[in-house]
Amino acid sequence: ATTADTFRPALHYAARNTWLNDPNGLIFHDGVYHLYYQNNPLDNVWGNMSWGHATSPDLITWTEHPVAISCDEDEDIFSGSIVFDRDNTSGFGTDSAPPLVAVYTSAFKPGSAHHGVQAQSLAYSRDGGYTWTKHSANPVLNRGSAEFRDPKVIRYTGNTGSYWVMVAVEATDFQVVLYKSEDLKSWELLSTFGPANATGGVWECPDLFLLPVDGDPENLKWVLTVNLNPGGPNNGSAGQYFVGDFDGTTFTSATTVTDGLQDPARLGEYQWLDWGRDYYAAVSFSDAPSNRRLMIAWMNNWEYANQIPTSPWRSPMSLVREISLTTIEGEPRLAQQVAGDLTAWADPAATLRLETVDIVEGQHVLDGAAGSVQRIQVTILQGTADEFGLVVRGGETQGTRIGIRPAEGRIFVDRRHSGQRDFHESFASIDSAPIRTLDGSYQLTIYVDRCSVEVFAQGGQVTLTELIFPSATSTDVSLYAIGGAATAKDLRVTGYA
Ligand code: FRU
Repeated sequence: ATTADTFRPALHYAARNTWLNDPNGLIFHDGVYHLYYQNNPLDNVWGNMSWGHATSPDLITWTEHPVAISCDEDEDIFSGSIVFDRDNTSGFGTDSAPPLVAVYTSAFKPGSAHHGVQAQSLAYSRDGGYTWTKHSANPVLNRGSAEFRDPKVIRYTGNTGSYWVMVAVEATDFQVVLYKSEDLKSWELLSTFGPANATGGVWECPDLFLLPVDGDPENLKWVLTVNLNPGGPNNGSAGQYFVGDFDGTTFTSATTVTDGLQDPARLGEYQWLDWGRDYYAAVSFSDAPSNRRLMIAWMNNWEYANQIPTSPWRSPMSLVREISLTTIEGEPRLAQQVAGDLTAWADPAATLRLETVDIVEGQHVLDGAAGSVQRIQVTILQGTADEFGLVVRGGETQGTRIGIRPAEGRIFVDRRHSGQRDFHESFASIDSAPIRTLDGSYQLTIYVDRCSVEVFAQGGQVTLTELIFPSATSTDVSLYAIGGAATAKDLRVTGYA
């Protein structure tokens, strides 16, 4: 890596030379994971929105391909999804060679016939997702709205039949709109959802999927996710979710709150995909093997996205996560873990295992734990300390603190001293999430990469994802305690090469 490129992630996807934002068109097809994304093919700031493209066999290593769907003089290609049209309902393929169909938002430009409108359009691929042709009768769904975008299409089969369902947003109405289609070309309104829960920013990039609760195939729940910007629990962009039911027409949720709208004090009561500042536009893959629900997000925040100090590229994606529903305090809630298997990249020379470490008051560098690309797994028993945790990517004056304050029931990431931070006034921050424990123990799995930390706490019940820009030489890992002692158990550091 060149000096300018010290932040290029090892385990995360970033485009070679260009800008990216939202993941789009996620699908597993013919044995390959396809990741399309909002891309500026000409620069490393937002603009010229087109769909970039990368593929992976394993959700860890990605190969960049030529731009899949390009903007033109009439339209920018905003976010959307891809379905495998197995039965060739669209007629874009043949019965023996069914097509992939992309459903994207046309953001019409000045001078085009639909200027000022965002509407949904189609493109199809007959070669497994590598080349795309825009449908000649676009857009296929136009409400005359300036803020109607981000269609996610799924195949629904239930009592009401089998058909395509689209969730999209009326962004400034804080509303998810649901449509139905037989052929992906003509769409009929089913229902709307929202405003509800967090509405401090526009609603974007929704998703809708079915998951078993605690792995029980007899107990299935629908999950509706919707990203919003700003208005997240720690400022700026974030994603919230609702667990409930979808009857083929309407989504309903017991966690829907409509009387707290715009009240920042209520944000902590809502369900969040991630509590960190840099996990946005999260959506899931279609057709993932073994019914896994795999999600990826843009690892950035619109507050400072165009200013982060990386080049020639700008913005990484998060790691891909497998999400599941698990019962927490009697309620089904999402839990997350990293989906890809990193075993093959583990560097035995950068691996450390310690059964028990007493953390006395102070900050203690761990011998043999240094690294800039690593996974740290540990269980910390709370003891007498008021605060305890780890510092990663540490150096003489740098470090990113991942701490727990048990009396407050909070876990936080403090990146005020994490490295470069002056590129935007709101970047340096302490961002926290509620954390619960039944027995005073806190289990953490932390993924560190060249410009990020992703914290999975208590079996992935709480996650915090944050960008950091440390010096390449800041590689120390420390344990610390304040106001007393704590104990680290089963500490494992795995470095990746
Ligand atoms: C979310 C978003 C989407 C839109 C895309 C444009 O980050 O604003 O709503 O489709 O980015 O790049």
